[in-house]
Amino acid sequence: MSRRIEPLITEEQIKARVKELGKQISDDYRGKDLLLIGILKGSIPFLCSLMWEIDNEKLAMDFMDVSSYGSETESSGDVKILKDIDASIKGKNVLIVEDIVDTGRTMNKLLDMLKTREPASLKICTLLDKPSRRVCDVKVDYIGFEIENKFVAGFGLDDDQYMRQLKYVGEVIF
Ligand code: IMP
Ligand code: MG
Repeated sequence: MSRRIEPLITEEQIKARVKELGKQISDDYRGKDLLLIGILKGSIPFLCSLMWEIDNEKLAMDFMDVSSYGSETESSGDVKILKDIDASIKGKNVLIVEDIVDTGRTMNKLLDMLKTREPASLKICTLLDKPSRRVCDVKVDYIGFEIENKFVAGFGLDDDQYMRQLKYVGEVIF
């Protein structure tokens, strides 16, 4: 059970990219309200760094926790809400903040659920995207980094709940 982490995306690269995303989001939502919905727990470091780069006087945030993994390494699409957001999103501009979109099953279900609550707009921002693994066709609006089909941890992403605290993203070598 010995694992090691091989650095893939450095702290500096993440900082620079988050800055760019923040600027883009500030421009796209200029003059509008913006509700960031962070998906617990993996999105926390990304959401924290991102919010500091967004210039918007009507920025609010909320959190949701969903269970997605059917097996150890593959989500089932059977998504359950473990913790729902606190307030109504009706008429709000919602931006879901996620750590990674892999098969897309979790995001697909989440979008379906949130759409029924009638937000003014609903977009997705993810730190990482693994397009080669996609099963559900979800449109991701803001992507930090595209990565190959590797299992990664750090900057919020976990390996069996550990390694979330790393300031970089690394490949887990089993
Ligand atoms: P999806 O439903 O397959 O898109 O799975 C999305 C969820 O799987 C993410 O929110 C992560 O929690 C988890 N996940 C997918 N790939 C990785 C990875 O490489 N490292 C850590 N967690 C991952
Ligand atoms: Mg997750």
